[in-house]
Amino acid sequence: SNPATVEINGKTYATDSWFNAPANVLASTSRKLHLQKDHPVSITRQILESKFPRPTFKYHNDFDPVVSTVENFDSLGFPPDHPGRNRSDTYYINKDMLLRTHTSAHEAALFRASESDGYLISADVYRRDEVDRSHYPVFHQMEGARVWDRAAVPGGDVAAAVYADLARLPTHDIPVEDPNPPFDPERNPLQAAHHTPSEAEAVAAHLKRSLELMVVEIFTRAKAAAARQDPNYVDEPLRVRWVEAYFPFTSPSWELEVYYAGDWLEVLGCGVTQQQILIDAQVPSKVGWAFGIGLDRIAMLLFQIPDIRLFWSRDDRFLGQFAGVSDDLARLRRFVPFSKYPACYKDVSFWLRSTLSAAGGNSRDASAQDFHENDLMEIVRDIAGDTVEDVALADAFTHPKTGRRSMCYRVNYRSLERTLTNAETNRLHDQVTQALVDKLGIEIR
Ligand code: PHE
Repeated sequence: SNPATVEINGKTYATDSWFNAPANVLASTSRKLHLQKDHPVSITRQILESKFPRPTFKYHNDFDPVVSTVENFDSLGFPPDHPGRNRSDTYYINKDMLLRTHTSAHEAALFRASESDGYLISADVYRRDEVDRSHYPVFHQMEGARVWDRAAVPGGDVAAAVYADLARLPTHDIPVEDPNPPFDPERNPLQAAHHTPSEAEAVAAHLKRSLELMVVEIFTRAKAAAARQDPNYVDEPLRVRWVEAYFPFTSPSWELEVYYAGDWLEVLGCGVTQQQILIDAQVPSKVGWAFGIGLDRIAMLLFQIPDIRLFWSRDDRFLGQFAGVSDDLARLRRFVPFSKYPACYKDVSFWLRSTLSAAGGNSRDASAQDFHENDLMEIVRDIAGDTVEDVALADAFTHPKTGRRSMCYRVNYRSLERTLTNAETNRLHDQVTQALVDKLGIEIR
């Protein structure tokens, strides 16, 4: 019962058997929270943009969320069998078009356009994922990139030019843990065919300082806000560390982690841009870096927002707390939670089809092999909307004789706006259960 066409931001797209975007997700494409004045995601974007000034950087904040599989994956060097391409992870409109899973989908086009030495892209991105207080199928990213042109420097080695730009960046005094070598032949290789070691080191040094300054800015503002609200506030010193990472479109690559409330949190991914992307974009003489940061998580830390669903709320008790901040960042305050309404847990226990009986049973039944947790997550969210706070596997076992797999998921229903009645939650849970039976072919225990 898929629609034959869907309209997204005023454009019509034909669907096919790949289509898997639920109505609530499609409806989110028009919200553009990163552009909504005084919205915490938008305020966070503004603060980050301030660290990457024009005209070196050009800002792009209105790119369409529907992109091709070429833009989202192929142009970035994702192999054909990369798991990110699966329908269990990504929202497809049809075989060739999808809702971008990251802002990197626009890298190739902007390198090709070659309008500036750097750019920032802020946008909504879409991923099928688990249901809890820090995951939502729609979130926001900022992509940043900076290039230097060999053709513009004598001798064609950009290292000196990059170091000269690095010397112009401010310094900071927070401790940074970075035990990593500049590159590692196995784990994190230099693109030796394209870059000299000193070029890669220079680009990495410029990248790391730029991003450290961005994180310092965010956390300095968060602490100032906390101190304005609570004169007795004692700040924990900010700690950051670099860890090696892998992305198909950068090498070497790193992630930056921030120590916050007892945990190391991964806040961004980055690296030296794969030269092949620049070659394909007809700018083979350019060398540079790229990063991608999740705006929602950063906003949650900055404003102490406990639940990602709040970003989608139109409740003035939420939005009202940020009024005027876009025009005057000194008015930034941490979020003061309005009373939390009670949680209501409901379990759903079911059998998957036996994987031992090859032919038997209804072909629509879910077997253990084709059960994807994200399908269940999405069905729950589709029915319960923003009244579902969390879905978690509570128990699973495989029957020793029949080979059938049993699973129990616990759904936590909790509205951000009111107390749900027990009768209402039961009705919702019955609908969820029925939808799981209809769509996944499971058998309720
Ligand atoms: N696109 C990556 C992600 O979504 C982040 C990234 C961007 C990494 C640019 C490296 C360079 O995880």
